[in-house]
Amino acid sequence: MLISPSILAADFANLQSELEAIATADWAHVDVMDNHFVPNLTLGLPVVEALVTVSPVPLDCHLMIEDPDRWAPGYAEAGAGSVTFHVEAAHDAVATARAIRAAGARAAFALKPGTPFGPYEELLGEVDMVLVMTVEPGFGGQSFMSDQLPKVAQVREAVRRHGGELWVQVDGGVSAETIEQCAEAGADVFVAGSAVYGRDSAADAVRELRALVER
Ligand code: DX5
Ligand code: ZN
Repeated sequence: MLISPSILAADFANLQSELEAIATADWAHVDVMDNHFVPNLTLGLPVVEALVTVSPVPLDCHLMIEDPDRWAPGYAEAGAGSVTFHVEAAHDAVATARAIRAAGARAAFALKPGTPFGPYEELLGEVDMVLVMTVEPGFGGQSFMSDQLPKVAQVREAVRRHGGELWVQVDGGVSAETIEQCAEAGADVFVAGSAVYGRDSAADAVRELRALVER
């Protein structure tokens, strides 16, 4: 069970201290948005290159960008622990996953709420994780979409059949109220933005979320 707080909800003027505040988490989730794949703009490679040098935990980069084929390997080369691209944006998902791994990071693909998993099952051999979005990507603080839980279960079942060691990640609206449903459906990596950085103590929030899924 891995907790990956999303710095999208952190104070962007103090990212180093915001990362230090979640040193007890497993990863730090970094939402890269290009204002094309999603209608929002956040940060890109130069900022990730800087964050890698100060983060106490590996960076879990979630690329919500067009043409991840071109950009994703750069995040791996920058030292990200994991790089996730969207299948809706990738031109060649197999090549992109292989390029991420060749550059030394774990690779993952993400599915928007409207994107079915079935057509992408054959990619399981190329990645270390599947991200099932539980909100429409683009913004933090949205409501959890429980209608995505069957997809989480479907991915978990496919991973079981596949036999490999793959993580199933959920991202969007994950909180103390929703995290247990995600775990029951088969998720084992939990991204939480507002549920962590919206609290006075991010460390307390991480501890509480972890306790809910590690019981
Ligand atoms: C949304 C991002 C999420 C976001 C989650 O597009 O991918 O990672 O930060 O934020 P919360 O946890 O507030 O829904
Ligand atoms: Zn994300």
